[in-house]
Amino acid sequence: MEKRSVTVAAVDAEALEREAQGAIAAASTRAALDDARVRYLGRKSELKQALRAVRDRETGMALNAVRERLESAFDTREAELERAELRRLDESLDVTLPGTRPQRGRLHPLTQIIREIEDIFLGLGYEVVDSREVETVWHNFDALNQPLTHPTRSHRDTFYVDDQTLLRTHTSTGQIRVMESRKPPIYIATLGRTYRRDTPSPRSTPNFHQVEALAVDRNITLADLKGTLLHFFRALFGGDREVRMRTSFFPFTEPSVEFDVTCFLCGGKGCVFCKHTGWFEMGGAGVVDPAVFENVGYDPDEWSGFAWGLGIDRIAAQRHGIPDIRMFWENDLRVLRQF
Ligand code: PHE
Repeated sequence: MEKRSVTVAAVDAEALEREAQGAIAAASTRAALDDARVRYLGRKSELKQALRAVRDRETGMALNAVRERLESAFDTREAELERAELRRLDESLDVTLPGTRPQRGRLHPLTQIIREIEDIFLGLGYEVVDSREVETVWHNFDALNQPLTHPTRSHRDTFYVDDQTLLRTHTSTGQIRVMESRKPPIYIATLGRTYRRDTPSPRSTPNFHQVEALAVDRNITLADLKGTLLHFFRALFGGDREVRMRTSFFPFTEPSVEFDVTCFLCGGKGCVFCKHTGWFEMGGAGVVDPAVFENVGYDPDEWSGFAWGLGIDRIAAQRHGIPDIRMFWENDLRVLRQF
């Protein structure tokens, strides 16, 4: 701002007022008006300096009259600008319009079923245990009594990190870790990601999810296993499910069974969905092999137990009528939004 040097005699009150009134009229924003107010009425303004230096009454009265007129002109203009601003806001902002709805996220269908499964186990008094995905060969195979020659040990079936380390092929590994670290009784469920070198297909993916249950206590029998399975599947799929067991083989259980559940669609009468058998294959189970107990330092004469496990992706697909489990991994929102 240019600095004017003034003397009382030199101040031309009339010209000053004209100039200030021009600036007031020209100010189109409140900020510009504030600048003008400082310039013409501020402490260092020409007018204030002249007032401070004034010596005679007449000049003083004249200058004060100018000051008063300018002050009221500033106030009037300010009110005008304020109203204009509000009007502009009114035009651009309709507070009655509905807002843009934020999109809500949702849980992945696999996460949903995993949480349901966890709830069922917690309701049974089981502890849900998290375990590592990168495992030792010992926890994944040796401790579970898997013979050295078994084909699932090969590099063609299993992802190895090095000779002694792999990506777990099942969640039974977590059961070994728990048994190694504490004494029975044990009632646990291990859930999580598992890895097998499978070619992706509608029924399998190299990365999938399993849930396994382990109960170790005194006098556990196959009947306890069957009762637990029945309770589990009725809780998950509805009160009228039936479970059947067929003999099978696993190195870590003896006897071993595979278990089926009555078809979701026809309830057991037989339909296209269950290939007219009335049953769906669910998973494997059995009475814990004494060799496994010995591997973790339990006395097999004192303790007995059952274990069972199943693939979560497959049952989630069946439950939702999804024809291809790869859809769970493709993250296509058109699919995921439906759950
Ligand atoms: N761990 C087995 C699998 O991955 C399933 C199973 C669990 C079988 C417990 C028997 C007992 O196929």
